[in-house]
Amino acid sequence: MIDSLEWTEWNHLNDMANNVDREICQQMADLLARNYRSSNDGEIYSNPELEYLISKKSTDKIALLCSKNYTAFCQNKEGKVIAFGLLVQNERWEIKYLNVDPDYKGQGIGRRINSLREETAKAQGVKEIYVESLLFPGTLAFHRSNGYLRIPSPKPLYYTILMKKNLD
Ligand SMILES: CC(C)(COP(=O)(O)OP(=O)(O)OC[C@H]1O[C@@H](n2cnc3c(N)ncnc32)[C@H](O)[C@@H]1OP(=O)(O)O)[C@@H](O)C(=O)NCCC(=O)NCCS
Repeated sequence: MIDSLEWTEWNHLNDMANNVDREICQQMADLLARNYRSSNDGEIYSNPELEYLISKKSTDKIALLCSKNYTAFCQNKEGKVIAFGLLVQNERWEIKYLNVDPDYKGQGIGRRINSLREETAKAQGVKEIYVESLLFPGTLAFHRSNGYLRIPSPKPLYYTILMKKNLD
């Protein structure tokens, strides 16, 4: 299944794209909103908190981040974006925005996107990679199974915890 998907990488870590595909970014934002809502069935976040988190991740924000970072995504046969994730360089290197369509979870797609991001980071000489993880139990289990461990955050985090992995 995973190999029948169409995989794409946008690598703009060393340049700045002025024409990322907005239709794809719109699909990413829609997927993220749908996914956050369906992951919150245990009510980890209140509805206003969840909608606040979603509102910070608009199409515009995703398009801007994609234009100057690394993005991996895949589409099904109909061209629908079913998973995506970014590797972002801020004051530290972070993986961000990983989302797998609920209908496609548990097939190794998230793990594949993580591998692509980590290989890209290694190629940039990165030794330590971070994630501000959402608090959904499945998300925490996913990051742990990919080798990320919780560390104290230098700044207060209200909706996430900081995790780190050494890339060797
Ligand atoms: C977390 C998420 C990205 C995982 O994607 P996925 O494609 O289903 O994950 P994979 O199939 O690659 O799983 C890899 C490993 O993670 C672990 N894992 C994934 N989902 C899990 C869950 N719900 N519960 C427990 N472990 C889980 C398992 O160890 C799994 O390995 P296995 O299949 O050999 O058992 C996906 O559930 C998602 O989109 N969640 C909502 C959005 C989100 O929280 N994004 C992360 C933001 S920090």
